[in-house]
Amino acid sequence: MQAVRLRRLREKDFIRDWISETELYPKHIILPYFVVEGRNVKKEIRSMPGVYHLSIDNVLKDLKDAYGIKAILLFGVPKTKDALGSESYKKNGVVQKAIKAIKKEYNELIIITDVCLCGYTSYGHCGIVKNKRIDNDETLKVLAKIAVSHAEAGADFVAPSAMMDGQVKAIRQALDENGYQDVGIFAYSAKYASNFYWPFREALDSRPRFGDRKSYQLDFRNAQEALREIKQDIDEGADIVMVKPALAYLDIIYRAKQKFNIPIAAYNVSGEYSAIKKLSEGDKMKEEELALEVLTAIKRAGADLIISYFGKKIGKWLC
Ligand code: PBG
Repeated sequence: MQAVRLRRLREKDFIRDWISETELYPKHIILPYFVVEGRNVKKEIRSMPGVYHLSIDNVLKDLKDAYGIKAILLFGVPKTKDALGSESYKKNGVVQKAIKAIKKEYNELIIITDVCLCGYTSYGHCGIVKNKRIDNDETLKVLAKIAVSHAEAGADFVAPSAMMDGQVKAIRQALDENGYQDVGIFAYSAKYASNFYWPFREALDSRPRFGDRKSYQLDFRNAQEALREIKQDIDEGADIVMVKPALAYLDIIYRAKQKFNIPIAAYNVSGEYSAIKKLSEGDKMKEEELALEVLTAIKRAGADLIISYFGKKIGKWLC
């Protein structure tokens, strides 16, 4: 009888909402931006309809109606790439300039910056390559430099995504030594070698020019290893840890949430976004329903924060 009564009560939306177990608010969503040099640039990424390369002025404009959004994640698309990824830590690099401009106009918006080399190196790997292999320790030095340059520009959190061993420790140390004790680390801790990243690699033109990322990203058959990686990052000083991708890895999010008492973020990645876009075929209602179902599932699994390319739309849907 009880079950029948509950079913009837739930026919009323306001009662259904009142007793729902999972809450998704715009404050849980982190908006990614791909920032390019120049002015008035707005170029759609072919494999990610509705997501753009934006110049800094257009990012500022775009943020005007980001209702309820509290945090953004910045990726830089540099003009030039080289073997050492040297554009990544320049004082007047595109990300560094973007941080300054955004902070000036939106001082309470939380700025998180991606710290990696794949978009900056000519060979599209997340680390410095020597003799066709990633040189872990050489890469750590560069990642630390990038992080300090972002902190200097005003970032609130830096987000190392290179999956190099010891990257959180190296970055924490460099930040502290340079007086940025208050800048947090948002670590891409459990990052799988996933096929769901392909659209993103078009966005950053960061497809590996040789080999793959399996030597430094996680094997999707492994769960215990992900928990070890998360534990290691927490021990090295991470303030927020991330599981990536999200939708095919809900079990990892769940386990991480059960095991660790630290905020857990999940990255609803480019391929997951593009799949929903394809499935909804331009039907806005379908897109909204699919996206909210997926994002709520990620939340239900235990993610406190979700990075999503649906971005601003979520704020509108949830209002
Ligand atoms: C690498 C990086 C990747 C993403 C963000 N940072 C993946 C990769 O190419 O290995 C993927 C994000 C997405 O697919 O949305 N630094």
